[in-house]
Amino acid sequence: MALRARTTLLLAALAGAAAALLLPGAVEAHVLLSLDDFGAVGDGIANDTHALVDAWKAACATGGHTYLNVPVGKSYQIWPVTLAGPCRDEINLLISGNIIAPESPEEWSDGDQGRWLHFRGVGDLSLSGGGIVDGRGQQWWAGTCEDENCTSHRQHEVAPMALHFEDCRDVSVKGITVQNAQRQHLAFTRCHGVEASYLRVTSPEHSPATVGVLVAGSTDVHIKHDLFSVGGDCVSIVGDSSDIKLKAISCGPGLGISIGGLSQNQSDHRIHKIKTDTMFIANTKNGLSIYEVIAPFPFIKDVM
Ligand SMILES: *[C@@H]1O[C@H](CO)[C@@H](O)[C@H](O)[C@H]1NC(C)=O
Ligand SMILES: *[C@@H]1O[C@H](CO)[C@@H](O)[C@H](O)[C@H]1NC(C)=O
Ligand SMILES: *[C@@H]1O[C@H](CO)[C@@H](O)[C@H](O)[C@H]1NC(C)=O
Repeated sequence: MALRARTTLLLAALAGAAAALLLPGAVEAHVLLSLDDFGAVGDGIANDTHALVDAWKAACATGGHTYLNVPVGKSYQIWPVTLAGPCRDEINLLISGNIIAPESPEEWSDGDQGRWLHFRGVGDLSLSGGGIVDGRGQQWWAGTCEDENCTSHRQHEVAPMALHFEDCRDVSVKGITVQNAQRQHLAFTRCHGVEASYLRVTSPEHSPATVGVLVAGSTDVHIKHDLFSVGGDCVSIVGDSSDIKLKAISCGPGLGISIGGLSQNQSDHRIHKIKTDTMFIANTKNGLSIYEVIAPFPFIKDVM
């Protein structure tokens, strides 16, 4: 047994992975990588961005079922980053510990606008692990105050999306907490096949326009068994989106669920086949709002 484990380890090392083991009960070899193997510190102060990028590259290049673990009990500070695909095979990002953003908006350069943890062009990606992704958005929110007492806010044009999945296929985000996002907690843009479930998505009620999940130009999206408590919309569906299912969602405080809102250019809204089931919407400003669309031919239909 020991010998076998060692052989696996060696093979994985040869394949460019830092560590590997056979998960109990696994028939196929599962490769398990840890952020710490790539030099991450996890003390909440160090810059662990480079380690994440290296770990992602290794995971992405490895065939088979790859697990990349963000260890429990630690806090990894990550600067804005794009983790791009396509990858060789499926990737499971196990967020067991905390991933935190730099606190100051000044840490974002011009090229980083609008993103924090940005996944692009990835298929077969799953995020789970029970940990926390914390955007630490307080300074971003403060920057949107329109008066000295912060009683009204303007929309922050460039505040980043915390977890942004763009041009993706078969992505699942399950059983983690996403909190204090600078703007959107999760965003799916041009994605096909999404499951966002058993999520706890929270920001203070006063955090301006913090959105739970933004779905834009995406199809076949299941948002279920989630708790949203944010300053803006719990779920916002815009763009050319269809086959969206919302089920067993708790929303509030927040503005509610919006379909067809937010976007400046509403002429590209073609939203259809939205199914809702068992929604607990309490203490919200708008409840379920379906925005009027005034452009030539777009339509919002089949909201059940
Ligand atoms: C943190 O590391 C990333 C990647 O190496 C780098 O782009 C960023 O500028 C670093 N931030 C600071 C404050 O050093
Ligand atoms: C802000 O609050 C202070 C103290 O309550 C008040 O005197 C002042 O008029 C307020 N300013 C605005 C712009 O509302
Ligand atoms: C809005 O979108 C339509 C269709 O995508 C485009 O033709 C038009 O130029 C856009 N208008 C603005 C103001 O961006």
